[in-house]
Amino acid sequence: GFSWKLPDHPKLPKGKIIGLIVLDGWGEANPDQYNCIHVAETPTMDSLKKGAPEKWRLVRAHGTAVGLPTEDDMGNSEVGHNALGAGRIYAQGAKLVDLALASGKIYDGEGFKYIKESFESGTLHLIGLLSDGGVHSRIDQLQLLLKGASERGAKRIRVHILTDGRDVLDGSSVGFVETLENDLAKLREKGVDAQVASGGGRMYVTMDRYENDWDVVKRGWDAQVLGEAPHKFKSAVEAVKKLREEPNANDQYLPPFVIVDDNGKAVGPIVDGDAVVTFNFRADRMVMIAKALEYEDFDKFDRVRFPKIRYAGMLQYDGELKLPSHYLVSPPEIERTSGEYLVHNGVCTFACSETVKFGHVTFFWNGNRSGYFNPEMEEYVEIPSDSGITFNVQPKMKALEIAEKARDAILSRKFHQVRVNLPNSDMVGHTGDVDATVVACKAADEAVKIILDAIEQVGGIYVVTADHGNAEDMVKRNKSGKPLLDKNGNIQILTSHTLQPVPIAIGGPGLAPGVRFRNDVPNGGLANVAATVINLHGFEAPSDYETTLIEVVD
Ligand code: 3PG
Ligand code: CO
Repeated sequence: GFSWKLPDHPKLPKGKIIGLIVLDGWGEANPDQYNCIHVAETPTMDSLKKGAPEKWRLVRAHGTAVGLPTEDDMGNSEVGHNALGAGRIYAQGAKLVDLALASGKIYDGEGFKYIKESFESGTLHLIGLLSDGGVHSRIDQLQLLLKGASERGAKRIRVHILTDGRDVLDGSSVGFVETLENDLAKLREKGVDAQVASGGGRMYVTMDRYENDWDVVKRGWDAQVLGEAPHKFKSAVEAVKKLREEPNANDQYLPPFVIVDDNGKAVGPIVDGDAVVTFNFRADRMVMIAKALEYEDFDKFDRVRFPKIRYAGMLQYDGELKLPSHYLVSPPEIERTSGEYLVHNGVCTFACSETVKFGHVTFFWNGNRSGYFNPEMEEYVEIPSDSGITFNVQPKMKALEIAEKARDAILSRKFHQVRVNLPNSDMVGHTGDVDATVVACKAADEAVKIILDAIEQVGGIYVVTADHGNAEDMVKRNKSGKPLLDKNGNIQILTSHTLQPVPIAIGGPGLAPGVRFRNDVPNGGLANVAATVINLHGFEAPSDYETTLIEVVD
């Protein structure tokens, strides 16, 4: 029968303290002026690279290696941390939704049947991120869902859009809204009363995560549910175009707006008897709005009105909280993660990041599961992030604080795995501010140094890697790699992640002599890291995990 007990590794000892560092958004790319990691002073990461090929290598962090539909899908933190923690490659939300839409199974599921009950007398509201970024949602999935729902009886549809500019180029929101408006017009021709009802930028409206700032969710609630917002427009295209004209405006941070009719009345507040679908498949930035829409008891902000609705998520976003309780597509069943194995095999774990990435090294790491496996053996520490700012003004973020917490945890010798996420290169990279991103990369490198020094002191082992690329390429390029220029001859800043591989380095005084990266796993990816780390803890990895990256030569 099944046992949590892992076999002893034939050659590697138990009891070493492992510092496991995930640099968020730190890929490997050609060195040029748009590679902020190259431009920044990063002596620690540079010295690790000198250990190649035995102690440093690259691993794949995008596309099918992390369970995304195609090789054109850039990596992201959800799938990256899922793979790192679970040691296997799961078909991820994006792919599962594609399959369910293509087969039509999405319409036979419990979730769709549940919301369909409201189609006769209520409105169907669709809330989510409007882009083709493929990280949280995809516009083509929304288009299919609009068509499918209207063919199955939805007569009145309201879309509440969140503009992107973070997983796609800034300014692309206008085109996506035009595409959507076009589809809605076609539905209207068929007699469906379909309209955009509200909107706002994803970083300012609705899509907060890890309870960093509930005001973000409240601004969305006011527009989507109450039909109230500081800006009112007759059309969504006009709204996005006008709001983008404000100084320093960008897609990520557009203020909330509602669409009003000729009498100035909001066209789509959410009311009793309506159905609501949040159409993002990715969990982290949907959990908070899901709580607001679903929980009877709720004290995070004053909802003013709590309509009796039928609510379903595109996916279930939190498997432990079973949130939301209704969903259109079942999430990947990520089970038996490395974290769960470790507690069953006597390995105590410490995990830490700051708020904006805290759930990455806990929730995502553990297969989209909140909480501890065993509170006696695990400690998760969250350093509060600065809220209400864009991180280019504070590019060092909490890197130093995270590193100091990790250092203290290592020196306490209470834990055998001390795991952190250093957010800088990703969070600042997403702002598109190249100079600030250089500062961010330097800060992350300094944090790595602090943790490696502590590992040195306790005779431990370090594993340094990343979840996907971002800061190593800040410009949109053509197929041959040349920076693309816009109409005015300016380069187009890339705020998104990339398709680049990421580094992984191992070392430290506790690393047994003879341990080195194998050369027979050339296509190794993030999912190979879990078995590697389990080996370094002195165990054989579960047999269905992706293979280890290391070997021990005598
Ligand atoms: C975000 O949610 O901030 C971006 O869409 C993706 O960033 P992450 O995958 O690094 O969290
Ligand atoms: Co990111």
